[in-house]
Amino acid sequence: MRIDIVTLFPELCDSFLSASILGRARAKNLFEAHCHQIRDYTTNKQKQTDDYPYGGGCGMVLYAQPIADCLRAVQKQCADQGRAKPHVVFLTAAGQPYNEETAKRLAQYDALTLVCGHYEGIDQRVIDAFGDEEISIGDYVLTGGELASLVVADSVLRLQPGVLAEEKGYQDESYWDGLLEYPQYTRPEVWEGRAVPPVLLTGDHKKIDSWRGQQSRTRTRLRRPDLYERWCETHPLTELPKWKRGENMRLVKTDEQWNIAAELFAEGRYAVCKDVCTPLYLDTLTPEHCGEALQLDRKNGWAFYLHYTKNAADGLVGVCHKTGQIGHLFVTASAREQGIGSKMLDFARKKLPEHAHPTLTVLDTNTRALALYRRMGWHPVGVEAVYDPATDATASVYCQELKLRYEAQ
Ligand code: ADE
Repeated sequence: MRIDIVTLFPELCDSFLSASILGRARAKNLFEAHCHQIRDYTTNKQKQTDDYPYGGGCGMVLYAQPIADCLRAVQKQCADQGRAKPHVVFLTAAGQPYNEETAKRLAQYDALTLVCGHYEGIDQRVIDAFGDEEISIGDYVLTGGELASLVVADSVLRLQPGVLAEEKGYQDESYWDGLLEYPQYTRPEVWEGRAVPPVLLTGDHKKIDSWRGQQSRTRTRLRRPDLYERWCETHPLTELPKWKRGENMRLVKTDEQWNIAAELFAEGRYAVCKDVCTPLYLDTLTPEHCGEALQLDRKNGWAFYLHYTKNAADGLVGVCHKTGQIGHLFVTASAREQGIGSKMLDFARKKLPEHAHPTLTVLDTNTRALALYRRMGWHPVGVEAVYDPATDATASVYCQELKLRYEAQ
């Protein structure tokens, strides 16, 4: 790949591309880079590169002419090398947002030219005449496009074969698969009283991969719900975890089971409500109250199942044959991250074979459950209820109860 940067500060850009990993790769001819001084292409005596904006306003605007002539010179150099016409990107705060997907796309070009604006901007006519696209590296304004062009150059060049020591290097990393990277640790094992997560010292790579995957998903869900939602849509859960020995589902029948179900229901409701409901409401979530609610549901056609791990109940789910609803899906905190919720949901759905499209509801604040449901083929079809602190004495935060419907994958 050949990369050209058109700038008022070619030395600055060149020195970046000569340092560290990119510098070594450049020395090995894994890519070619050229930084061009816009000023060298001026035709006025003073070598002036910019002027006041037509229509007034502060700042200066770069002339079209020197940029155009510089781009023509780059085009000629590429043609002389037998390369295709370079793809031209203008770096401006008004461009399309940049991300890894764009980096991957730009990395496919044989020749890429990055044009850095400065001061208030660039004469639009040269952008219109030469630009294939305009890119912004984020919602903030820089004094010039140099840092932006280097961000693009760095993220594109590291994808070129051989630039990173190990190709796998970038496959694990943030954004590659749409998830943020898991946390990393190196020696010493304990630093200033902080220990490395023990799983990383086990040497059990299956366990380590599973822990890292979990960390990536949780991080992304909490820090970048937008990325996580997209990831869930593109990563359906096609394979459920296997049922382990000592693990089973039992219909709630005995008094003792009803008591356990009431306790799990209370615990589950509390977990979901604790950040969105008033303390007064949370106080009502006792096993007694929740037990009464379950009995009422039973009268209305609901059946409940407990999940057991080695004879200890650690999950609850309800199904209603009359309406095709699934509800009260809950796994105790200590039994989480083992795929029990997904197995219980699958179990509950299969208990309703007469309903091709069962439904369930979930608070939109319960992003963890929502993500699981979406990955398992459940899609939002509407809003079941709205909890608004302005009109609802039990709500402390505005949230919506979403209705989801199962669509076979
Ligand atoms: N020039 C000034 N601000 C910029 C930004 N955020 N991205 C790209 N180029 C810029």
